[in-house]
Amino acid sequence: MARNRSLAEVNYKISKTYDLLQRTLTGLLERRTPARVLEVGFGEGRALLEFAWQFRSQPVAFFGVDKKQEPPVQCRDDLAKMALEFGVCLPDELGQLRLPHIDFYDATELRFPDEHFDLIYSAVTVRFIPDKARFLEEVCRVLRPGGVAYLHIGQKNWDYPYSQALPEIHLTPYNSRFVLKYGGELIPLPDYLQLFEGEVFRFEFINRPRCVLKVEKRRSGRLDLQLQWNDTYSMSMKALPYRHKSGKIQGGFRSVYDIPEENYRRLIGLGRIHPETLRKDSPQESPLI
Ligand SMILES: C[S@@+](CC[C@H](N)C(=O)[O-])C[C@H]1O[C@@H](n2cnc3c(N)ncnc32)[C@H](O)[C@@H]1O
Repeated sequence: MARNRSLAEVNYKISKTYDLLQRTLTGLLERRTPARVLEVGFGEGRALLEFAWQFRSQPVAFFGVDKKQEPPVQCRDDLAKMALEFGVCLPDELGQLRLPHIDFYDATELRFPDEHFDLIYSAVTVRFIPDKARFLEEVCRVLRPGGVAYLHIGQKNWDYPYSQALPEIHLTPYNSRFVLKYGGELIPLPDYLQLFEGEVFRFEFINRPRCVLKVEKRRSGRLDLQLQWNDTYSMSMKALPYRHKSGKIQGGFRSVYDIPEENYRRLIGLGRIHPETLRKDSPQESPLI
């Protein structure tokens, strides 16, 4: 799997533009300095280094967390070598580059204080994290009021409708990696997240049909999604019959949660889900993704 996407490629995965992250940081810096930026799943560090280089004259500290501590990046000093290898700067310019602070662990639990970061982003990584709900809660915890996160969660065809779950492990005919249900009914993620919007958080899915979640934190606070991990339906995508249109098996992990009855009732009350429109016959075919 590719671990060395450029900043332009990471931007494109997130937003189909080449500079959303830089524009967002520029906007944040107009409101407050200094700023802190975190990339989750930085891989070989190319995007993070390019970002740090482009903002080298600004008061910004860059941080990265990745689960794998393996060559060519096993410690912070390795990033200097990678900066030259990726052509981020010339050897005599290295002194101008403030190397990002990196650490290696599972980002499900972020080892940072509350409200520490202005900008958090992640590309082609959240799909591999089993407990995505916990990860999202963590991102919301470490985000500062006024901060923004862009989390690239899945890919096309994740946006399943409110409907009856399929039997057995299939659960949905879509290759969603973050699935919510209530009994045998699928609950769309965007609708559920809206229950938690208010004075503190705002959630928006951008770059549709890709699954990219934009989180804005407006005030101090935490997110508690009140979700129950479902161990029976959560599994590696490899255990499922869903394939890419190229024929390749889908990678990553499908994380499934049960929502509490109270929230199911609230969704009905708000008109976000309509049990009377549940389809009697669930589709049996898995579409090509
Ligand atoms: C496909 S690579 C993408 C790397 C980089 N974002 C890019 O686009 O080039 C996925 C990265 O996510 C990291 N990763 C996977 N699961 C993780 C987890 N639970 N916590 C932190 N990093 C994780 C992997 O080690 C890998 O470097």
